[in-house]
Amino acid sequence: MIKYLGSKRRLVPVLRAMARASGARTALDLFTGTTRVAQAFKALGIHVTAVDSARYAAAFARCYVETDDRDIDRADLSEVLAALDALDGTDGYVTDVFSRRARFFQRDNAMRIDAVRDEIERSWQGHAYEPLLLTSLIEAADRVDSTAGVQMAYVKRWAPRSYQPLALRVPELLPGAGRAVHDDACAVVSALGSFDLAYLDPPYNQHRYTANYHVWETLVAWDRPSHYGVACKRVDLRDDASTRSVFNARRTMPLALRQVVRDVDAELLVVSCSNEGWVGVDELRDWCAPRGAVEVLSFDSRRYVGAQIGVFNPRGERVGEVSHLHNVEHLVVSGPRALVRRVVQSSSDVTSASTAASGTSAMAGPRP
Ligand SMILES: C[S@@+](CC[C@H](N)C(=O)[O-])C[C@H]1O[C@@H](n2cnc3c(N)ncnc32)[C@H](O)[C@@H]1O
Repeated sequence: MIKYLGSKRRLVPVLRAMARASGARTALDLFTGTTRVAQAFKALGIHVTAVDSARYAAAFARCYVETDDRDIDRADLSEVLAALDALDGTDGYVTDVFSRRARFFQRDNAMRIDAVRDEIERSWQGHAYEPLLLTSLIEAADRVDSTAGVQMAYVKRWAPRSYQPLALRVPELLPGAGRAVHDDACAVVSALGSFDLAYLDPPYNQHRYTANYHVWETLVAWDRPSHYGVACKRVDLRDDASTRSVFNARRTMPLALRQVVRDVDAELLVVSCSNEGWVGVDELRDWCAPRGAVEVLSFDSRRYVGAQIGVFNPRGERVGEVSHLHNVEHLVVSGPRALVRRVVQSSSDVTSASTAASGTSAMAGPRP
């Protein structure tokens, strides 16, 4: 899986335990990102609907959530990926824009990304393999990029991993059906149907995911966009109206989240929020109250690596220090009282063991 701001890697063991204890057969992951939470639910045999407005996230969801491993001939997929991996590089858009102008990839890797992406477009468009090949390519490119985790800038000296050769891997698919929805959560939430469990993990601040990960957007769209700035961002990102999510503005975010919390049709609702976000945990607790019992789990979590090493401008010069290196992640759990009790209890069984090992520690147990 790719490096991703706000990814819930460290909370997956807790969310998995909660899903298992809930007995859910259907689940919604409304801001799915890397799909790691959706995958954890799917691995429990739950039918998952994964929604995200970013193109690359939709590709991941089509790969990991919608594709049933039992429908895929692994040997054949492996051969297709090996053939793509063996292609000679070509000097195309990625080479020109993301290696020559911006320095996201070393030249050889950029040329191979160009060759692989062109071949996917030529031979696999509309095929069941398309999202699998795109996912494999993005994940391979992510392993050799030269950033501090977001694509608003590249690092001043080439990152050590960027010297590794690009290597495509077969995505780890899961058995079972699922659904991927590429859309705006607010626009579709009322039409998605009803779920046993819904997980909401909206963006916490003004930074647009499509800008932070514009290279992945372009790799999926493959539309060779005009670009601007040192990071060579897609020119359509300049158009706020079409690319800024309501979740990226302090003025609109609380209202949007409140609407989603109200409209999502789920017996058990779990909402992520952070002490750094625009919506406080007490506000969320109030919004969830009409759903039944509400409990809050809180976790002390290390901030993402970019924050730990300092603040840099696009030329890689340090321009500031970070104020603190820890944030607090909350899970607000609501639904019928007995169900909420059960899932919250299950979470406390895993917090001590798995989160201590992974850098997240449970700060406070459930609050009444
Ligand atoms: C905090 S991240 C989710 C991380 C995810 N839980 C994970 O572990 O990878 C928020 C996600 O919301 C998506 N997003 C932003 N605005 C959205 C909107 N209006 N509708 C749907 N998804 C949106 C972003 O693309 C991003 O992937």
